[in-house]
Amino acid sequence: MQINCSAPLIPCIEGRADGLPSVLQSVLWGSILPATWNFMLAARLRGLGSCFTTLHLLFEQRAAEVLGIPFDQITQAALVPVAHTQGTDFKAANRQPADSLVHWDRWT
Ligand SMILES: Cc1cc2nc3c(=O)[nH]c(=O)nc-3n(C[C@H](O)[C@H](O)[C@H](O)COP(=O)(O)O)c2cc1C
Repeated sequence: MQINCSAPLIPCIEGRADGLPSVLQSVLWGSILPATWNFMLAARLRGLGSCFTTLHLLFEQRAAEVLGIPFDQITQAALVPVAHTQGTDFKAANRQPADSLVHWDRWT
């Protein structure tokens, strides 16, 4: 399939993640998020740009209604706009130095 227009991807989890203990949440999110990121990398390889967003989840139920997603059975994980980029003049994002974030052996 070839995508010629912009389109959002909404990666979804089967079942509701709400209220699950963190050990089960991590299994769900740890599966869907790398898959989504792999999709974004594969899109980039094909000349498409994308961006990971989650703010629409504030209105997840409304989005489910609009899209016909069964809200009680399916958890939306993100919304990833996908489109051809305007040019390829990308530059590195401003990031905190890794040394300020990485802890070795112990947290403190
Ligand atoms: C978990 C997560 C959720 C995000 N949700 C949103 C969002 O809802 N809206 C938004 O504009 N950017 C969101 N972002 C930020 C964008 O994905 C992206 O990082 C941002 O536009 C800056 O781009 P850069 O990372 O290339 O600097 C989110 C990032 C992460 C990691």
